[in-house]
Amino acid sequence: MPHLATALDRLGTETAFEVLARAKALEATGKRVIHLQIGEPDFDTAPHIVEAAAKALRDGQTHYCPAPGIPALREACASHLSTHRGLEISPDSIVVTPGAKPFLFFGILATVNPGDEVIYPNPGFPIYESAIRWAGGVPVPLPLTEETDFAFTADDLRERLTPKTKMVILNSPGNPTGGYNSRDLNVEIAKVLADHDCWILSDEVYSEMLWGGAEHDTIAAHEGLLDRTILLDGFSKTFAMTGWRLGYAVLPEPLREPITRLIINSVSCTAPATQLAGVAALTGPRDEINAMMAEFDRRRVAVVEGLNSLPGVTCRDPKGAFYAFPNVSGTGQDAKTVADRLLQESGVAVLSGTAFGEHGEGYLRLSYANSLENIQEAIELMRGKLEEMAA
Ligand SMILES: Cc1ncc(COP(=O)(O)O)c(C=O)c1O
Repeated sequence: MPHLATALDRLGTETAFEVLARAKALEATGKRVIHLQIGEPDFDTAPHIVEAAAKALRDGQTHYCPAPGIPALREACASHLSTHRGLEISPDSIVVTPGAKPFLFFGILATVNPGDEVIYPNPGFPIYESAIRWAGGVPVPLPLTEETDFAFTADDLRERLTPKTKMVILNSPGNPTGGYNSRDLNVEIAKVLADHDCWILSDEVYSEMLWGGAEHDTIAAHEGLLDRTILLDGFSKTFAMTGWRLGYAVLPEPLREPITRLIINSVSCTAPATQLAGVAALTGPRDEINAMMAEFDRRRVAVVEGLNSLPGVTCRDPKGAFYAFPNVSGTGQDAKTVADRLLQESGVAVLSGTAFGEHGEGYLRLSYANSLENIQEAIELMRGKLEEMAA
């Protein structure tokens, strides 16, 4: 048998997909599993968005299209960012890909040389570390702490910057913690980065999911940073469109041609009918999305209250996304043991905080993309198991 490439050792994965496989295997044996491990809205895409894609297909939008995206979507994205983030940008700076995820790889591949350092949030979306290592970069974790409501301080960032820092990755609102970077923190971050010539990758896929009055602020809007920030956003979370695969980024001018070349080398383009669905999402009615957001907020309150009533568990109010990140160190068990036992013995699928990096030890991630009824049932099953573990 021929050998595999050694470079594969540098490629990580997303534990959510592994836990999903284990949960499905349990279900195949007849066991009921409540899924709180998945990072996707449990709502269907709004009908007007589906209809836009169906019409596009009927109208013959079944061919290759421009690699950086169709003009209608690039214009809609630029206009959306001007209304929602106050950014005056040209449609030329927008590039579209199948999902926001490719920008993590393309952005890093286009900027990071072997040996370059990349600062990234930890606990954080696991693909950051995977993409940094794949490019031969050195991952430098920026710990997100419970004390700062899962943000960090300007000093935390300053201490990690070195002459080798090529990129800083920010993710607000954040997966897995539900933390967010306030405008005040962004002002401080901008001051720290003003003297440091590095790229910024700002992952804002949860930009429209903020709770309790928290407001989204993009680092790209701060003095001089738009010129070196890759701002990525997508349709998966805001518009419940995970399976469509549609995302976009605002790219600084020097990155537009290289990233378009990476697109041509890998996926060629994003399906045009999907892109027209994206135009409908950005320009169409918001009723269904507003209803989904209101439901997420209701569940957030219920899940946090439920978690705080469990033995050995404390949970901060998440300010964004649809995740709760409870501290389970009071159970006396490591997070992976707690997560494994909850799945195997109680049929509650959650993720260990360590699936998001070493600074996730002591925490679990629960996605509340499930019905209030199922969430409440999961909390009671967790109570039973945690009481048993404490006895
Ligand atoms: C922080 C973060 N960034 C990016 C993505 C990728 O989203 P998409 O479905 O648009 O590729 C996810 C999905 O879970 C995420 O949590």
